[in-house]
Amino acid sequence: MLPKKQNAKLLPVVGATLFAVAVSSAPQAEDDTRELVKMPSMMQEHMLGNMRDHVRALEDILSYLAEGRGKEAAEVAEARLGLSSLSLHGAAHIATFMPEPMQDAGTQMHRAASRFATLATEAEVDMSVESQQALFGALAEITQACNACHAGYRIR
Ligand code: HEC
Repeated sequence: MLPKKQNAKLLPVVGATLFAVAVSSAPQAEDDTRELVKMPSMMQEHMLGNMRDHVRALEDILSYLAEGRGKEAAEVAEARLGLSSLSLHGAAHIATFMPEPMQDAGTQMHRAASRFATLATEAEVDMSVESQQALFGALAEITQACNACHAGYRIR
């Protein structure tokens, strides 16, 4: 901890730096290179609703992992993000509006979530550092798949 006085001097500097980073990394409308994927507005609503549940699923997964409950984390991952979630999301119907590479990005995410689910079930039994690290790696593969698609496409 810094002494209080120094802390007060540092705060504006930290604030300004954070602001600069936020501004420079926010995509500007004119250099938004994401491909626009058109779909009927009801489909958009449905897809964005799914997306919001994806983040909630990640939250549930992390909360279960924090309690060492790998089996429950696995169940959430498989049911809400994994290959088992495809029918739940009406994926087949929405996918008809997506260009093929976007569909592939979706498949990557579902596969990564199912892989994570297998590892999380095992990790509840095997609490070794290696097994826990592999689990973090599998979780990162899910979020990488989210980001890969977000970097390439928009629907509005
Ligand atoms: C196949 C492509 C794809 C994948 C995979 C994907 N998303 Fe999305 N997501 C999108 C698109 C397209 C949008 C809309 C972006 C836009 O139009 O600005 C979106 C929007 C969102 C939104 C904003 C929702 C809203 O109400 O505005 C959230 C949150 C989100 N995604 C979370 C996730 C998370 C978390 C994952 C991974 C677990 C994920 N997404 C995986 C394509 C994808």
